[in-house]
Amino acid sequence: MTGDPIRRPLDDVWYCVGESRRFRPGRLSAVTLGEEAIVVGRAETGALFALRDRCPHRGMALSAGRLVEGNLVCPFHGWQFRPDGQCAAIPALARRDDADFTTVRLPRFAVAEVSDLVWIAAGPNPQAAPPIPEVDFPYCGMLVEILEVEASFDLVALSFVDPAHVAYVHDSWWWRPSKTLKEKVKHFAPSPFGFTMTSHTAKTASVVYRLLGAVPQVEIEFRLPGVRLERITAGRKRIANYTFASPLGQGRTALINAMYWNVPALNLLKPIARPLMRQFLGQDRDVLQIAQKGLDRKPAMVLMGESDVQSQWYFSLKREFLRAREAGSAFVNPLASRELRWRS
Ligand code: FES
Ligand SMILES: [Fe+2]
Repeated sequence: MTGDPIRRPLDDVWYCVGESRRFRPGRLSAVTLGEEAIVVGRAETGALFALRDRCPHRGMALSAGRLVEGNLVCPFHGWQFRPDGQCAAIPALARRDDADFTTVRLPRFAVAEVSDLVWIAAGPNPQAAPPIPEVDFPYCGMLVEILEVEASFDLVALSFVDPAHVAYVHDSWWWRPSKTLKEKVKHFAPSPFGFTMTSHTAKTASVVYRLLGAVPQVEIEFRLPGVRLERITAGRKRIANYTFASPLGQGRTALINAMYWNVPALNLLKPIARPLMRQFLGQDRDVLQIAQKGLDRKPAMVLMGESDVQSQWYFSLKREFLRAREAGSAFVNPLASRELRWRS
């Protein structure tokens, strides 16, 4: 890991750690976020908690333990912790032993559940963080795929705002039937903690868009730390295709794709859609892993022309976020509305 904060994933912001249904009532799960190992528990009441997955006694992974009457029990010597991290009991203490276990406390992480995904804040102060994305319509189906990529957080996040890779990396018949590059004109406006490609009519009808039966409007928002929100509207039909990057530490990043829809017929396509989504994400993973090796040898990138302006914006937003955090002041979006042209 480099010492330059612009190269590191942001602290104190929310990251997606998986689907809600993965976290079952009465069970514990191990989650990695950046360099932090976290135990996530869900009480029988449904409430989630997230604590450092390291028993202060001898370092045991608490995720290997159990939830007993709402408390986390370490599997090594049975120390008990409340969901707020406070040590609640040390069973080995004799009655006359006055060792004060109330001084023992596990670091706690903020955890939230939004649109059937679980988010954890990597840091103690997520109040000023970019908001967790929500789905703004009642959905009747969703599909989530998560891939692990051996590439930096930045490289994965940049792939969300990189129009020039699509023709080369995602050249599947069902997504991009035509191989010829066409000139595109897109309008962008700043949005909270990012920018939005304002709604346009999708002319190059990919098979996915044509399934909606009408000419869809598409809006794509990017937001820190690594969140891409594609909103597709065709009359009353809605699809939200959300993509997130979450840091896994040691140069690895989770690439998460969550798709939601309000069209019941699309539920039937889920068995077909899942392998296609995996293939699509796998195309990104494969190319990102190889590019990362080149960046490991020499980290500099040459960003050129308007097809790379969104990549420049990513770093501008991140730099401003770090500046605001450092100065203790509010984030001020450094971007202005602008038209971009490229061939893709
Ligand atoms: S290591 Fe957890 S109780 Fe001893
Ligand atoms: Fe991609």
